[in-house]
Amino acid sequence: MSNRTFTMIKPDATSKGHTGAIIDDILKAGFTIKALKWIRLSEEKAGEFYEVHKERPFYGELVQFMSSGPIVAAILEKDNAVADFRKLIGATNPAQAEEGTIRKKFAASVGENAVHGSDSDENAAIEGNFFFSGLERF
Ligand code: RTP
Ligand code: MG
Repeated sequence: MSNRTFTMIKPDATSKGHTGAIIDDILKAGFTIKALKWIRLSEEKAGEFYEVHKERPFYGELVQFMSSGPIVAAILEKDNAVADFRKLIGATNPAQAEEGTIRKKFAASVGENAVHGSDSDENAAIEGNFFFSGLERF
C-alpha cells in the first residue's frame, strides 16, 4: 500500500479559477500536501512528462494542452494514496466519472479533464521527482 501520490491541476482548471476548490476537495478527502508549486510547462517538458503516451493518437494534443497555461503540481500523502486519489478524481472521461468526483465537478472533456493522478506507486515517485527537488518537499 502506497502513502504518496503525485497530482497536477491542469490548465483548463487553473484558467477557469477552480484551483482553490480542487485543493479544498483534496484536503477534505484526507490528503496532506508534501510539496506544491504553480508552474508553466514548456512544450518540451510536457512532452517529456508524457513520454509514456508518445505512441498514443492524442499525444500531440495532450502536450499542447498541458503547456498551454499554468498548472499546479503537488505530492500528496495519505494511506493508500494512489488508489484513493484516483477514486477521488474519477474516470478519465468526465462523462463517465462518478457524481461528486473532481472530474465530474470540474472537467469538460476527456482531453481537458482538470486533474492528473499517478497510476502506480512507481510512477508517483518518478513524477514527483520530475517536478520537485529534495529541498522542495518534506
Ligand atoms: P492522468 O494520467 O492525466 O491522470 O489521466 P488518466 O490516467 O485517467 O488517463 P491516461 O490514459 O493516463 O491519459 C492521460 C491523459 O491524456 C488525455 N487523454 N486524451 N483524447 C483522448 O482520447 C484522450 N485520452 C486520454 C487526458 O487528459 C488524460 O488524462
Ligand atoms: Mg494516467
